[in-house]
This record gives sequence, C-alpha cells and structure tokens, in this order.
Amino acid sequence: MQRLALIGFMASGKSTVGELVAAKLDVPFVDLDRYIEARAGMTIPEIFATLGEQRFRVMETEALGDIGRDMKCVVLATGGGAVIHPSNRDLLKASFTTVYLRAAPETILSRLKQDAAQRPLLQTDNPAQRVRTLLKQRQTWYEDAASWIVDVDHGTVEEIAQFVIQTAIGE
Ligand code: S3P
Repeated sequence: MQRLALIGFMASGKSTVGELVAAKLDVPFVDLDRYIEARAGMTIPEIFATLGEQRFRVMETEALGDIGRDMKCVVLATGGGAVIHPSNRDLLKASFTTVYLRAAPETILSRLKQDAAQRPLLQTDNPAQRVRTLLKQRQTWYEDAASWIVDVDHGTVEEIAQFVIQTAIGE
C-alpha cells in the first residue's frame, strides 16, 4: 500500500470513507481541505470569501503536491474540485492509486441538504442546478483521474470502505 486518493463530487463520502479505509489499513489519513485550512489558518468558506476561488485552487494544487511528495503512505480525501486542473489530474495519476467515489446527482442533492452551508460553491439561488452543472462538467475529469470507480449510491460506509480496499488494494 502506498498512496491512495479518494476523488469525487462534494458529499460523495470521500472524508468519511477515507477515514475508515485509513483506520482499517492502519495508515495516516489526510483530508485535503482540512490540510489547506490548517496551513491558511482559515476555514474553506473564509478562504473563498477573502481570497477567492482562484487562490483556493492554487493552495489546493500546492497541498496536493506536498502530500504526493512528502508522504510515502497515506489515504487522502481530496476536495470535489481537485480534478479541475489538468496538472492535478496528472499528479493524482502519477503519485496515487485513485478511487472515484461515484454518486448520482440525487444522492448528492439529498446529502447536501444537510450541510450545503459549508460549501461556498453552492451559495446560489439554485444549488440543485449548480450541482448538476458542476457534475456534468467534472464527470470526465473524475473518470480520467481514476484508477478505479466505486459506486456509492447504496451501501453503508463500512461496506463502501471494504469495497474500496478490495478494489484498490486487493485485500
Ligand atoms: C469544492 C469542494 C469542497 C471544497 C471546496 C470546493 C469543489 O470539498 O474543497 O468547497 O469545488 O467541489 P468537498 O468535496 O469535501 O465538499
């Protein structure tokens, strides 16, 4: 086991599943958003509000680069937009085994009802429309960066974590 990255849209379960996968494999877990927040001394909504999305994307690329370089063994939960930049996708493909947690728009929308407030990109009049547009835009990028695809519309966190391990690590 070396570096495993979970990619996918907001609310696809990257952090929850990633934490459990890391615990089961007994390797360190890093959540890319929390890593960025710790380095910046600001929350993600604060970064978007004060520095803007473009600056956040630069910080995201830097953080991804740090982890790909510095950590030999890690389970990484990325943010939903980590696949936007081609160079990030190249880095994911080169330095990680990457699992795309694929969720249907309906699954994402129902999960986001609980915590859309934490997602700056969804602070619009029509968050459902925004989710569909972003998902359509990003779908091929997730697929492009993925070593493996795991569907997450059904199953418990435990079952999905186990499936990720079987699929990506072969255990
Ligand atoms: C984003 C997803 C968020 C966070 C930021 C931008 C995106 O992470 O990185 O709000 O562009 O999809 P989660 O996927 O963990 O919500």
